[in-house]
Amino acid sequence: MSDIIKAIGEIGLVPVVKINDAQDALPLANALIDGGLPVAEITFRTDAAAESIAAIAKEFPEMIVGAGTVLTRAQVDAAMEAGSTFIVSPGLNPDTLDYALSKGALMMPGISDASGVEAALARGINTVKFFPAEPAGGLPYIKALAGPYADVKFMPTGGINLTNLATYLACPSILACGGTWMVTETLINEKRWDEITSICKDAVKIIKDVRG
Ligand code: 3PG
Repeated sequence: MSDIIKAIGEIGLVPVVKINDAQDALPLANALIDGGLPVAEITFRTDAAAESIAAIAKEFPEMIVGAGTVLTRAQVDAAMEAGSTFIVSPGLNPDTLDYALSKGALMMPGISDASGVEAALARGINTVKFFPAEPAGGLPYIKALAGPYADVKFMPTGGINLTNLATYLACPSILACGGTWMVTETLINEKRWDEITSICKDAVKIIKDVRG
């Protein structure tokens, strides 16, 4: 397991961020660090993603900053040039994934069934995003996949929140969860940094309770 994946597993929760204004990147990163979650998946759902990743990587080297919603080769290039330490996609696009791997990127593709797991394993990847977690079957589905694929670690996102975080994290097949609830677009757009820190702290309490 790579050091980055290990560190993500130790943190236990990855804030999935949609940032509209790159000026918000540093105060956001600061709020996450203060809240005890020094990790972020900055999604390529806005034009501000690459600039935000670059700013965080430069200013907060202690933070694990990765790129999310990476759908194309061009986005792989942009994510890597910006200094992303990991790359996530909602699905498993063989062309994009193979390109990222050929460039030496640490990529966690999204899967939601056994065929997806096998496509990842065929490329030597055994840590995958499970998306969209709740609509796709949630924890019971992950536990079923863990039967044949005992060595695979899942990072579920989609429908995870403070009410079900503990249940997911208690499952040994879960590396970490991902979610947007601590970094919603509204919280970021309204620059509610203290609130973000406080929501992160609530999540960290839950993670500590479950994982020690
Ligand atoms: C993602 O973008 O990875 C997920 O949609 C996050 O889902 P959530 O908004 O339910 O946390």
